[in-house]
Amino acid sequence: MEDIGILSGINKETDKETVILAIESSCDETAAAVVKNGREVLSNIISSQIDLHTLYGGVVPEIASRKHIERINQVIEEALTEAGMALEDMDAVAVTYGPGLVGALLVGVAEAKAIAYGAGKPLIGVHHIEGHISANYIENKDLEPPFLCLVVSGGHTHLVKVTDYGVYEILGRTRDDAAGEAFDKVARAIGLGYPGGPKIEKAAQKGNSEAVTFPKAKVAENPYDFSFSGVKSAVLNYINGCRMKNIPIAAEDIAASFQKAVTEVLIEHAMLAAEEFQMDKFAIAGGVASNSALRTGMEKACAERNIKFFHPSPVFCTDNAAMIGTAAYYEYQAGRRDGWDLNAVPNLKLGERR
Ligand code: KG4
Ligand code: ZN
Repeated sequence: MEDIGILSGINKETDKETVILAIESSCDETAAAVVKNGREVLSNIISSQIDLHTLYGGVVPEIASRKHIERINQVIEEALTEAGMALEDMDAVAVTYGPGLVGALLVGVAEAKAIAYGAGKPLIGVHHIEGHISANYIENKDLEPPFLCLVVSGGHTHLVKVTDYGVYEILGRTRDDAAGEAFDKVARAIGLGYPGGPKIEKAAQKGNSEAVTFPKAKVAENPYDFSFSGVKSAVLNYINGCRMKNIPIAAEDIAASFQKAVTEVLIEHAMLAAEEFQMDKFAIAGGVASNSALRTGMEKACAERNIKFFHPSPVFCTDNAAMIGTAAYYEYQAGRRDGWDLNAVPNLKLGERR
């Protein structure tokens, strides 16, 4: 096989470094980054809309699209300025084209197409989850496929075998709510507000995780699949029970007990897969991967099995464009380019070739 220098990060054919401008707008973060050779983040600008959506208790799609439109040019300009580079210095423009909110995705896709077309640069559409997984490459310079990855975000819960760069096998997925979605719904139910994940984590630190036993659902047909609607309903029933009996709701204990139930089931499934597939590397990704109880639990479980554990820093766990630039680099090296007909695909499947 011809050596094109993928592992060294340098395209030896031209002996040139590869710099990619990446754009992410799939949900409520307007983000742009400049990434060199896939693993060196030269800039990573994130404009979060969390404050706006907090007013409504969750992401309002139309507001998200409108805010992306307002902010995207400035965010891109800041990313280039911070990297000390101009558009002409870029080798490609990358953008998340799915999955996500269609109106939000369209802003990033239209912007990336306009920029790439105007500057005469190649365009690379990136899968959002591939981005989350690739976030692990940024700070773990020695991480290379194959490895297993638990992707836990607000919209997705996937147990994935990363066979090679850009090659994924989904071992398990959620049958209902995503893990982050369950955190958000439970946080709302116990009055903590949006976004739920960080608020549950904070409350849980002061609570007793043994206070309430919430169910850990197993899916009969596939041991790697998840289901979080049961634990969410159990929390709601518990709260209703307290209200009916006039017992004060101990939000911190509920948060700690719920977090324990969710993280334990995630870790159990992850370790089952690691043992079955004899994998000695395990990574986590997505917004929920910034949860310290999940990180600590995974770290311990991996150490017990001699598995090397990888995780991104919190800023690379939640939505950002650096992870899109990293994923795009490996797509670029593999020769993948998109046409000017690239469109937003809200329900894009991981590993689905364009
Ligand atoms: O990856 P992400 O930023 O967006 C999606 O692609 O969905 O993930 C956002 C999700 C939200 O549901 C949020 O509540 C959750 O990640 N999250 C957390 C934590 N930080 C964010 N969940 C648990 N613990 C956290 N510390
Ligand atoms: Zn995400």
